[in-house]
Amino acid sequence: MSTTQIFLPLLLLVGACKPPPDARQQMPGASVERGKAVIERVGCGACHIVPGISWPQGRIGPALGNFAGQNLIAGQLPNRPDILAAFIRNAPALVPDTNMPAMPLSEQESRDVAAYLYRFEDL
Ligand code: HEC
Repeated sequence: MSTTQIFLPLLLLVGACKPPPDARQQMPGASVERGKAVIERVGCGACHIVPGISWPQGRIGPALGNFAGQNLIAGQLPNRPDILAAFIRNAPALVPDTNMPAMPLSEQESRDVAAYLYRFEDL
């Protein structure tokens, strides 16, 4: 077996586990600002501590302060923009036994919210 045969699959595997941050956080057409407004309107803070949202700061769900640095969503889904947006909008469709409720968001709004969460890598 050549070195390439060994290292190429290894590289692909590493890539699949942890894509580079910029690729992972690409949300074309999404707006961090709109995402913040949506979070305030639908009240994610009732259950989550969300950076930049001072009230409320609920603790029913996990704090969302380091979303960009997290590998998994809800402990089981790959942390990718499309999957995060889908989870935010309708978590039970992806994780049937989750306590995160489906939220009244359009597809665009859930993408905006995901963009907002990815922005807070360093908090
Ligand atoms: C009624 C309470 C409640 C509300 C409202 C709520 N969530 Fe959640 N959320 C939860 C719970 C509980 C979990 C943990 C679910 C699990 O791990 O299966 C969760 C999990 C999550 C996760 C995954 C966290 C992680 O660390 O993997 C994200 C992201 C998330 N919620 C975003 C949001 C956003 C954005 C909103 C507003 C649009 C919102 N949630 C509204 C209760 C809520």
